[in-house]
Amino acid sequence: MKDLIDKLEANHLLTKNEFASLIASFDKDEAITRYLFDRAIFVRKQHYNNEIYIRGLIEFTNICRNDCYYCGIRASNENVSRYRLTKEEILHCCELGYQLGFRTFVLQGGEDMFFTEKIMVDIIASIKQLYPDCAITLSIGERDYDTYLAYFRAGADRYLLRHETANETHYGQLHPQKLSSKNRKRCLEDLKRIGFQVGTGFMVGSPYQTPNYLAEDMLYIAKLQPQMVGIGPFIPHHETPFAKEKAGNTELTLFMLALIRLMLPTVLLPSTTALGTIDESGREKGILAGANVVMPNLSPINVRKKYLLYDDKICTGAETAECKEDMMKRMMKIGYKVVTARGDAKPF
Ligand code: 5AD
Repeated sequence: MKDLIDKLEANHLLTKNEFASLIASFDKDEAITRYLFDRAIFVRKQHYNNEIYIRGLIEFTNICRNDCYYCGIRASNENVSRYRLTKEEILHCCELGYQLGFRTFVLQGGEDMFFTEKIMVDIIASIKQLYPDCAITLSIGERDYDTYLAYFRAGADRYLLRHETANETHYGQLHPQKLSSKNRKRCLEDLKRIGFQVGTGFMVGSPYQTPNYLAEDMLYIAKLQPQMVGIGPFIPHHETPFAKEKAGNTELTLFMLALIRLMLPTVLLPSTTALGTIDESGREKGILAGANVVMPNLSPINVRKKYLLYDDKICTGAETAECKEDMMKRMMKIGYKVVTARGDAKPF
């Protein structure tokens, strides 16, 4: 397996079979895992030193038209108390975030059609006008080309849209028929063509996932060449069809993070909240497997418990300032430094 790790670091690609066998062996040999993480940290340090980029995540609506089988805020979950932030509330989050040193704001929400193209363009343009030195990232799902273009022209810089799984059969096992892997990929291509810095990604350990499917995810990501990749463990939510499914594995998530770092050396790779949820020191472990981004929650404290994509989500009870302090201390303890910067991807 060491030869495959070396090959990935040198060529930034493996065949599907090579990826699948490497991934299937993730818990077989501790020495190999340690070697993989060492290489990932080495590559990460070459490009980003010991700096960690921080993003302020604003979960501005938990209303969603979709019904993904894994997601806690899916349309048919009637036990969610639904909310939308007003433009003023969103701007207030940005103001607080700016004071705390955030230079990227991530507007994330369900596919909530109340936020029409016109309303979103106004929100994006207002943030950009007030904070021209900040990057705006959108994470609001599937739209058509023209709407994405309007968001870009209004000043949005980046767009996160996880492909969830590259395999069409697997996609169909995680989503209702109305949603398709094809349209998801079409969106990602549109976003790239428009000029967004694009982020994609997937859950680790989602129901029915196999090493082969994960290998397909790697090949899809290699083809797309995104600037960001978001991955985290699947965590069941008690009010979804997947309530009784097993959660994803911390070790496999870390293994995948390190493989992604070797495949895309300069990628912006968050150590996610989901990883911090299944393991108390998951976010530190993510950084030590090659991640270089953290995304503390900037949402108002009174809505945090309403944006639960999965059970036991962390950071729903503390103010942003506290979460950020906690994060900075955690990162310092493992020898890394949270910086105030837009944190764009370095060219490779
Ligand atoms: N467990 C882990 N991640 C989840 N997401 C949605 N539901 C869950 C869950 N139960 C992820 C999806 C989505 C992102 C915003 O959150 O990958 O793209």
